[in-house]
Amino acid sequence: MTEEPTIFAKSPAKVTLKAGEEYYFCSCGRSADGIYCDGSHKGTSFRPVVYTAKEDGDAWICRCKHSKNLPFCDGSHEKLP
Ligand code: FES
Repeated sequence: MTEEPTIFAKSPAKVTLKAGEEYYFCSCGRSADGIYCDGSHKGTSFRPVVYTAKEDGDAWICRCKHSKNLPFCDGSHEKLP
């Protein structure tokens, strides 16, 4: 059985990324800010999404954790009940 992520919020959050920097984004939805991994996935099957930014700039990070393109919002939050 696949574990379902926690819906932190049904909207993305804007973050500013720096080129070449490695980020650990929350995929379980349990972290304190719903954006960055803080170890709250402990005891679940979830792991952070490791992403190295390709360029400087803003990105919209999924907080419903149902995006098919984590860590980024793909609009899936609009189809959640
Ligand atoms: S916030 Fe998860 S797809 Fe938009």
